[in-house]
Amino acid sequence: MQPIVSIKNLCKTYKSGHQALKNINLDIQDGEIIALLGPNGAGKTTLISAICGIISTTSGSVTVNGYDTVKQYRKTRGLIGLVPQELTLGAFEKVQSTMAFSRGLFGKKPNTAYLEQLLKDLSLWEKRDAALMMLSGGMKRRVLIGKALAHEPRVLFLDEPTAGVDVELRKDMWKLVSKLRDSGVTIILTTHYIEEAEEIADRVGVINNGELLLVEDKAHLMDKLGRKQLCIELRQSVSEIPDSLSSYQLELSDSGTHLTYTYDVKSTRTGITSLLQAVNAAGLQLKDLQTSQSSLEEIFVNLVSEDQAQ
Ligand SMILES: Nc1ncnc2c1ncn2[C@@H]1O[C@H](COP(=O)(O)OP(=O)(O)OP(=O)(O)O)[C@@H](O)[C@H]1O
Ligand SMILES: [Mg+2]
Repeated sequence: MQPIVSIKNLCKTYKSGHQALKNINLDIQDGEIIALLGPNGAGKTTLISAICGIISTTSGSVTVNGYDTVKQYRKTRGLIGLVPQELTLGAFEKVQSTMAFSRGLFGKKPNTAYLEQLLKDLSLWEKRDAALMMLSGGMKRRVLIGKALAHEPRVLFLDEPTAGVDVELRKDMWKLVSKLRDSGVTIILTTHYIEEAEEIADRVGVINNGELLLVEDKAHLMDKLGRKQLCIELRQSVSEIPDSLSSYQLELSDSGTHLTYTYDVKSTRTGITSLLQAVNAAGLQLKDLQTSQSSLEEIFVNLVSEDQAQ
């Protein structure tokens, strides 16, 4: 199947000389939700702006549904909805009319039923005649989403959709995103919140210093890079780790009552069986065992810090 968005060898150097995107290659499939994670200044907004065709690029190309975002800008722009990172709304405009106006900008015929449903989905129906300056920050953000969806785009870009939004509203936003996906919209979002990517994305891309370090299926990423830890609680404390266990690189903690073993989830032999036998042979008695797996957050922090160290 042809990807809905295809990015090839994309580079962007700003006039200041700053290289904000370095040879980005990425295909996005129709209907998926992809989260771009990266620290401040990584290049996320630049990448989104380049895909949307609202900034010029230095080299490479982007297509949306097969159309080139530079040569066929009007076609691609109509397929895209963009919710920018910064709140950009006039103060006196009204909720419903600003959304209807946005739709008109794309040359779409008015569709009252569609707009009504959209307002309801965004929990803005009650506020449809309110002036934008009367709304809270979270409501304004929902109006921006409404504006971006008013012309029924196939691809929606959400640049930090939940920055500065409270926990409840963030969860509402996640529900909305999954509802939109059910309606067939492809969603590309940027976020600093790892839990957000973990919660709603099908694939996760990590971007740092203008480079796309990886793009992986979320579950696969956790499997591939996730480390597991086995914590062994002992009946009696030990003052040091017995020599016979030195090859396992255990960590001793909690005043000598806990031994922690870190192993690779992806390796076929985890070494757990032999470790437990060796613990037994060393005369140590087990009280309890616990395993834990590293979160996407730890994976992300490791990736970015490894990249910075290079
Ligand atoms: N118009 C511009 N001119 C020059 N440099 C720019 C411009 N816009 C962005 N940059 C630089 O490009 C880099 C990437 O910026 P970008 O806004 O894409 O980052 P980001 O990942 O979206 O960050 P954040 O998480 O803070 O939103 C930064 O170093 C930034 O200073
Ligand atoms: Mg940004």
